[in-house]
Amino acid sequence: MPAPLPHSYYSTFPAGVDGLIRQIVEADYPHAVITHVFENAVLYRVGASDPLLSAPYFQSTFRTLEHTRSSPSEGVESAARRFEANLASYPFSRLLEHDRHFRVMFSRDGRPVPAPRAVRDRMERTIQRVSGRPTRYRDADAEVWVSLRREGFALLLFRRLRNRARSTDRPKGMIAPELGALLCRYSDPSPQDVFLDPFCGHGGIFLERMRWKYRLAFAIDRDERLVSALKERLGRNSDAWRKRTYVRSGDGTSLEGFDSGFITAIVTDPPWGEYDRSVGSVEAFYSAFLTSAARVLAGGGRLVLLAGRDVAVPEILAPLSSSLEMEASHDMLVSGKKATLYKLRRL
Ligand SMILES: C[S@@+](CC[C@H](N)C(=O)[O-])C[C@H]1O[C@@H](n2cnc3c(N)ncnc32)[C@H](O)[C@@H]1O
Repeated sequence: MPAPLPHSYYSTFPAGVDGLIRQIVEADYPHAVITHVFENAVLYRVGASDPLLSAPYFQSTFRTLEHTRSSPSEGVESAARRFEANLASYPFSRLLEHDRHFRVMFSRDGRPVPAPRAVRDRMERTIQRVSGRPTRYRDADAEVWVSLRREGFALLLFRRLRNRARSTDRPKGMIAPELGALLCRYSDPSPQDVFLDPFCGHGGIFLERMRWKYRLAFAIDRDERLVSALKERLGRNSDAWRKRTYVRSGDGTSLEGFDSGFITAIVTDPPWGEYDRSVGSVEAFYSAFLTSAARVLAGGGRLVLLAGRDVAVPEILAPLSSSLEMEASHDMLVSGKKATLYKLRRL
């Protein structure tokens, strides 16, 4: 008999890729029991040290202490009252064992919302009494959240903040590593891949692709400073060089130097239309890139592309319909900006 799955968790991802996250979690972690998939979060049960808990495409993972059905109009105050009834029974002394300070937060549909001072104070006093740990809003290293979802759920969640550096300490313009990992995973990475990111920037996608095996991996950017910085970063990790990675400056729209049919997977976020006018005509830029991508991709090759919502990718693709097929697209929000994630396949 399989072991029971005692713990419930809640992991977040960018809004709009819920269907994709369900598919990926079901494929990668078939033992996980998914309770509910929200627009930007998934509620599931696994064992306490399950690999799913460090899945690279989740932004944040919380332990779910309690979840109940609620009415979509319920306020945080009333949800907090319901959770207060059991609050002292949760193992906060163990959960907060390694933390210095905690704080209590409130959210609705994943966005922080204010709560009456008295409600927060009461919850904090109870947790402080049970755990012996002090509360502090700034510099907290653990959080307890009362979260409401319009789908009719109220959740009491707990998380540590220690490992957040991965996403927060990144240069401006670099894609969040969790999103880079999601894009790479969406490309169905294979150890036989000859991989290419033709607009690699700081390498947010390229560096995440190193998680999965590949045969060769190429990164290109027209900005030589970014190329040098990425080379240096990879150079610090000698394993990466041994694993055959090539970073160089070049034009991602022409892909000169790559033979036809040489590449098996492209994952990239080119300049984002309205958010980056430095490329001139967005249509001409994407048309040149997609034409070159169709040339360098091998039959069956995959192209995962994240673009601003204003870029008319389906129209730009129309003349290439005999070589590139659109398999799926997902409208999503990336740092509040409207974007679309495309998966294309070379016919
Ligand atoms: C949206 S950013 C990519 C961000 C990247 N994924 C990261 O994590 O840093 C787009 C990149 O395309 C580069 N770029 C713009 N035009 C280019 C071209 N014609 N060829 C190659 N790179 C280009 C820019 O220098 C920029 O670094």
